Amino acid sequence: MIILGAGPAGLVLGNLLLRGGVDCVVLERADREHVQQRTRAGYLAPETVRILERNGLAEGLRARGREHGVCEFRTEDGRFRLDYRTLGRGEPHTVYPQHELVSDLLAQFIDAGGRIRFGAEAVTVAEADGPDPSVTVREGDGRPGRWRGRYVAACDGRHGAGRRSLPPGAVRRHHRDHGVSWLGLLAEAPPSLDAVGYAIHPRGFAGHMARSTGITRYYLQCERDTAACDAWSDARIWDELDLRMRAAEYGPLLRGRIVRRGVVHLESDVLEPLRHGSLFLVGDAAGLISPSAAKGANLAVLEAEILARALIDALVRGDTVPLAGYSERCLAHIWRAQDFSHWMIGLLHTAAPGPEAASFFQEGLRRSRIAALRGSRTQQDWFAENYVGI
Ligand code: APR
Repeated sequence: MIILGAGPAGLVLGNLLLRGGVDCVVLERADREHVQQRTRAGYLAPETVRILERNGLAEGLRARGREHGVCEFRTEDGRFRLDYRTLGRGEPHTVYPQHELVSDLLAQFIDAGGRIRFGAEAVTVAEADGPDPSVTVREGDGRPGRWRGRYVAACDGRHGAGRRSLPPGAVRRHHRDHGVSWLGLLAEAPPSLDAVGYAIHPRGFAGHMARSTGITRYYLQCERDTAACDAWSDARIWDELDLRMRAAEYGPLLRGRIVRRGVVHLESDVLEPLRHGSLFLVGDAAGLISPSAAKGANLAVLEAEILARALIDALVRGDTVPLAGYSERCLAHIWRAQDFSHWMIGLLHTAAPGPEAASFFQEGLRRSRIAALRGSRTQQDWFAENYVGI
């Protein structure tokens, strides 16, 4: 079994296969340090925690993760809070930085005797439609190599070799560009709120997400033009965050050095089916989801567990029925998460300037959505269930 990519998807899959008695190798383009330091998401759904727990992979997050269950909306009509851990199914998120989770999974995989090749970039997956697929790789020193296995799991993201190797027509791609960009920021600053903060402002969305006692993630809706946002000074970013988070009314944000920034275009896509012969798509390789509801890493872990169990059934017990159902099972979760993320995008962004009637209509819908969330317990329960759910 060959696994491409050592992100959450590839490493959960690798760990579970190893425990289930399936021989596998992970091929990872980057070096170990890079993989362990890449800061990404950090909000784990309760189901993700349960998956990691029942597979003995939750020691680190149990020791260092923090439960989190409140979000605050700041709008033109004032602010309100949702204590979502007391709503819906009564479950919180666990905040645990993704690079720490990846480091834990990597250490556990290696300690258990797992094979991983760093600096090995998969170039193509060949003969995926048959029972004997192979992966050509470029090693760190430029040497070519080839790996053969019964199955290949593409856990190598949206630009990986898995997606690239799909022959035309093998898989349909449903794509949606949400027409919105966020400047994602990592600040060496303590959180300014004891809640996830969502500010809806005529100048654009701003978001606040605590990471640790000294690190906070912020988002600022920005122009599509990346270069323009790159040029913003730290002071300008903080002023803009203060303005959109309405610091004049609710208190200024705690400032610090901006240590990382990058523009994210809010895009979604879903590939269907998630299998081409012996090649399976998992995590970002299977579908891209906008970060508006922090579902990406959670879906990756869920899909990896579903695939691992199905592969163990096929390779150890000779039962290929669960493997045949992999795509359909995952797609049900993926579309659910896409629907909620899409709803969140509509909630958080004022309408882009456009033909007047259309943007008025859009704005009317958004305000009504916020009002319902603020005033209706049923709507709050629905929100809470979907917000933490996958
Ligand atoms: N060959 C080998 N490895 C590759 C290749 C390649 N051609 N291309 C990419 N990779 C590696 C990357 O270096 C990375 O380590 O694949 C890994 C993919 O990891 P992630 O991008 O974390 O993807 P995934 O495991 O699917 O997790 C997805 O995590 O951070 C969240 O929201 C994010 O939705 C995303 C989720």
